[in-house]
Amino acid sequence: MAEFVLTLMAKKGGVGRTMHTQNFAGAFAEQGFRVLAVDLDSQGSLTANFFGDDLVDRLQPHETVAALFDDAREPDPNVLIRQTSTPDVYVLPASAHLERYDLPEPLQHGDRQFALRDFPNDVSEYFDVILVDTPPNISNLPAWSALMASQYVMTPIQPQKNPMEALIDVNVQVSNAIAHGNPNLTYLGCFVTNFHVRRAIQKTLELRLRQLYGSQVFNTTLKSRPTFEEAPFHYKPVTHYRPKSEAAQLIRDLLVEVVTRIQASADMMNPPQAVAG
Ligand SMILES: Nc1ncnc2c1ncn2[C@@H]1O[C@H](COP(=O)(O)OP(=O)(O)O)[C@@H](O)[C@H]1O
Ligand SMILES: [Mg+2]
Repeated sequence: MAEFVLTLMAKKGGVGRTMHTQNFAGAFAEQGFRVLAVDLDSQGSLTANFFGDDLVDRLQPHETVAALFDDAREPDPNVLIRQTSTPDVYVLPASAHLERYDLPEPLQHGDRQFALRDFPNDVSEYFDVILVDTPPNISNLPAWSALMASQYVMTPIQPQKNPMEALIDVNVQVSNAIAHGNPNLTYLGCFVTNFHVRRAIQKTLELRLRQLYGSQVFNTTLKSRPTFEEAPFHYKPVTHYRPKSEAAQLIRDLLVEVVTRIQASADMMNPPQAVAG
């Protein structure tokens, strides 16, 4: 298995799961990790951000993540996994073909819950990090299969009126996943993105979020920057589109925190053995 699988999950649409899955892929790759970014959203936005909309429209079912849910045939990693223009970043694409598996009550779907977890091990061994982008419907089979395959989950949040409530839903779903199939799952926390420094109301909301959720909220806040919005138009993570930009640096800062939390949680799971003598 890869060193770890990290899923970005939020109940709200348009918060930045896809954008920052791509950005984290770039930031991990910069650090020498080999990254597989898995698109589990039938909208195929992550796939489009790396390869353009045309590819998403052209993909055959067996070339997409939908193949993992198809009992009729073995998914072929050589066909499924695509190299991107970013060194060490690969994508397992999605498209509308995934819609037929966008099913409620994931616990009723037997082995399909583990479609991603059971993705051939010799493939995942090639990667150090697997990042998973998920759809806003966090109770259906695709998002559930991400939770079944992951060690870590995190949530992007925009400081608007109600997005904070969505955090509770993610936490509930993570607890369900821990209870029903994946005891190794850890909720890493949430990070604020698209933060407008000059809007007083956003400052108030961010402060409130930190008061409510304390250390669950990452210290690094991703300010609203056009560079973030431009990068996908160049099919690149912000780290590779504008390596010297403030946006790229913010992602790197956040990545340091993410890695620190992952290490802390791994140490907790596997405490060092006392050495005799
Ligand atoms: N730090 C940021 N600066 C500028 N825009 C941002 C930032 N974070 C998020 N966004 C905006 O939020 C949108 C999130 O889109 P996307 O990643 O597709 O969301 P999701 O996958 O959660 O539906 C982006 O298109 C962008 O407009
Ligand atoms: Mg998305």
